[in-house]
Amino acid sequence: MRKVGIIGLGHVGATVAYTLFTHGIADELVLLDKNEDKVAAEYNDLHDTLARNNYYVRVTMQDWHELKDADVVVTAFGDIAASVKTGDRFGEFELNAKNAKEVGEKIKNSGFKGVLINISNPCDAVAQILQETTGLSKNQVFGTGTFLDTARMQRIVGEKLGQDPRNVEGWVLGEHGSSQFIAWSTVRVNNKIAIQLFSENEQKKLSKQPNKNSFVVANGKGYTSYAIATCATRLIQAVFSDARLFAPVSVYNPEYKTYIGYPAIIGRDGIEQVVELKLTSSEREKLQAAADKIKEHLDQLKN
Ligand code: LAC
Repeated sequence: MRKVGIIGLGHVGATVAYTLFTHGIADELVLLDKNEDKVAAEYNDLHDTLARNNYYVRVTMQDWHELKDADVVVTAFGDIAASVKTGDRFGEFELNAKNAKEVGEKIKNSGFKGVLINISNPCDAVAQILQETTGLSKNQVFGTGTFLDTARMQRIVGEKLGQDPRNVEGWVLGEHGSSQFIAWSTVRVNNKIAIQLFSENEQKKLSKQPNKNSFVVANGKGYTSYAIATCATRLIQAVFSDARLFAPVSVYNPEYKTYIGYPAIIGRDGIEQVVELKLTSSEREKLQAAADKIKEHLDQLKN
């Protein structure tokens, strides 16, 4: 049975639960949250759809032992308000580093042996703490990372060129945060390379747009939910179907010695392979700068 645990039933976790439930992507859901009233509300609201839903999904709540035979766990704890206030997702780091250690211990004690997909921000640093705390392998733990930022880039570039976003190839790499960047050397639209599409100056201006757009959403509605939940759901489907999906997720990169947004192949066991990209020297410098920012914050925790 396709069983998914969701830890953190805020706007993002609840949207992931609702999407999995109504699209028949999971057969069982385990809802876990510190806020008893909130998790009971989501539990009941989901069950109230059953008489009209096309799928029956077994849903349990607040029982960590239920994670033992789960295939996937999604972590979506935290409160983006702290990131909105500071304009940087590390605004949530103090709170979510603590949450990650607590949740990581509970996941470890549950006997969970599946794939852990982290959404909680700052995504890369939290993914690293969860991997270290749970003791799961680096391939079993990854984050949504720049999978969402890349989708935002595809929409922005597609709109500029009057193209369906799915015609836009290429990646946003680095931190799921302010030091992310569009790796223009990887961008293609209908087989045209970036420099044939945008001048250097236009590329520079566009590079910060995906992250800016995330704050348009977060400032406007106080959180983001649909796009991130769709990304997480797509990654869960890749695990269940062993899709070998080639996507930029927050993955442990041995060259940079941290979790960071970089392309990997995702299948049944999580990260099947991290795919080496041939980047320009300036792109490598940006990736190193993003890694340094993530590691600096993680090192501060240890001091
Ligand atoms: C966003 C949140 C998930 O970028 O960080 O929408």
